[in-house]
Amino acid sequence: MIFYFSGCGNSKHVAETLAQGLGDTLAFIPEAARNNRYDYTLADDERLGFVFPIYSWAPPQLVLDFVKKLKLASKPNYVYFTCTCGDNCGHTEKVFRKAVEEKGWELSSCFCVKMPETYIAMGGFKLDTEENAKRKISEADATLARLLPRLANKERFSEMIVGGFAWLKTYLINPGFNRSATDDRKYRTTEKCIGCGKCVDVCPLQNITLEEGRPKWNGHCTMCMACYHHCPVNAIQYGKATEGKGQYTYAKIKVKN
Ligand SMILES: Cc1cc2nc3c(=O)[nH]c(=O)nc-3n(C[C@H](O)[C@H](O)[C@H](O)COP(=O)(O)O)c2cc1C
Ligand code: SF4
Ligand code: SF4
Repeated sequence: MIFYFSGCGNSKHVAETLAQGLGDTLAFIPEAARNNRYDYTLADDERLGFVFPIYSWAPPQLVLDFVKKLKLASKPNYVYFTCTCGDNCGHTEKVFRKAVEEKGWELSSCFCVKMPETYIAMGGFKLDTEENAKRKISEADATLARLLPRLANKERFSEMIVGGFAWLKTYLINPGFNRSATDDRKYRTTEKCIGCGKCVDVCPLQNITLEEGRPKWNGHCTMCMACYHHCPVNAIQYGKATEGKGQYTYAKIKVKN
């Protein structure tokens, strides 16, 4: 069983690749949470996997909340996570290991793959060039092909890109990010909006409603940026931080190939 979260398609691609390679079932965390589905029974030899993007050098809070509520009929024999990041993950392994150990389980393996950047809601953050984005995707695919057999054999390993100042980023900056940088009140639409409702459809938290043909953000945002990146006419902005920065989704890059 693989529980996954994804805003812009990178982690979804990774989760689907793993599910296909391992013959495992996929469950989308926001959907399971929405349906209050926290009770699962795994087969005796079944792996328990998690796939998610890195948000501010840690797992997204909604993933940690889900792990906390998850109830399994018996202790899983092999637990792993795979995360996608633009650059590096800080102490994500420590954070996730602690979350798993608090359940009385053991983390067997983890690895990260670099994928195209999606976060651009602050000054200084920008998207990868198309060339870099494609290079990251093909390197990530090679890493997945190399590590899939190790997951299949239930080996124990860790291949994380921790990066510099990891303690500071994960234990000081991340809590601040979760408190204030997920504020959706800075989302706005420009006159380009055609009222198509795509942003409503792609929001994994169902946080957007259309009111008089314009999106309204309703205060339960995880800052995945799916609404921004999927808008067909680039009509969504986050304050002024996103202006002129372009859009990215895994699907769009693949369609162009
Ligand atoms: C809110 C937010 C915070 C992010 N923080 C980090 C980070 O701390 N380190 C990093 O390398 N990438 C970071 N990223 C980039 C994403 O982890 C990366 O692009 C990921 O592959 C996106 O996955 P998705 O397409 O499945 O949503 C961040 C992206 C978002 C939206
Ligand atoms: S996806 Fe873009 S154009 Fe469509 S309703 Fe949302 S903001 Fe408007
Ligand atoms: S409102 Fe936008 S950024 Fe927030 S969770 Fe929904 S899609 Fe993601």
